[in-house]
Amino acid sequence: MIEPKTFPDLLESRVVSRSTAEEHYKLYLSHVRKCDDLTERLTRIQCTRSTCQATEIANLKGDLTFVLAAVRNHEIYFDILAAQGAPPTGALLEAIRACFGSLENYLGDLRQTARTCRGWTWTMLDECTGRLWNLPSQQMATGPLWKARPLLALDLFEHAFFCDYGPRRLDYIDALIAHLNFKPVEARYLTAAG
Ligand SMILES: [Fe+2]
Repeated sequence: MIEPKTFPDLLESRVVSRSTAEEHYKLYLSHVRKCDDLTERLTRIQCTRSTCQATEIANLKGDLTFVLAAVRNHEIYFDILAAQGAPPTGALLEAIRACFGSLENYLGDLRQTARTCRGWTWTMLDECTGRLWNLPSQQMATGPLWKARPLLALDLFEHAFFCDYGPRRLDYIDALIAHLNFKPVEARYLTAAG
């Protein structure tokens, strides 16, 4: 069983309306329930050890990959939508300056990456080099880079903003960038960087 996370500040977000945040969270909960359902069905099938169920297993595994990614992605996204944004500080700010030259350059690169993307935009910590990257991924279940830890996620699918912004996705991106809550991002950075 996957325990759904709660995000106390989500409904007070200054980026999206309360109703958009509520509906988005319900979508997240549906992904959590689907994970549990798929896991249970796969356990039952695999217990039979039948070779004739390969196609069904393949389909269920494909669905499980999608919803697991959806759960993880939204958990990284929801906590940057807090009511009050918080700028990066400490080791994270130092890493941003080392990789991008300045916080302004980093946010500009994040904005440009998001503008070219219709799926997810990530800030990743590359474990191979220690470098931070802003990278896009167009699909739910495809990360942008192996051996990289996701620190920050921007949901750019239309369900995340259309009720509030209509087709003005650039306004949504600008609002996201203006109100980012970096506290959970810093916590993930410190864990990942050791
Ligand atoms: Fe979403």
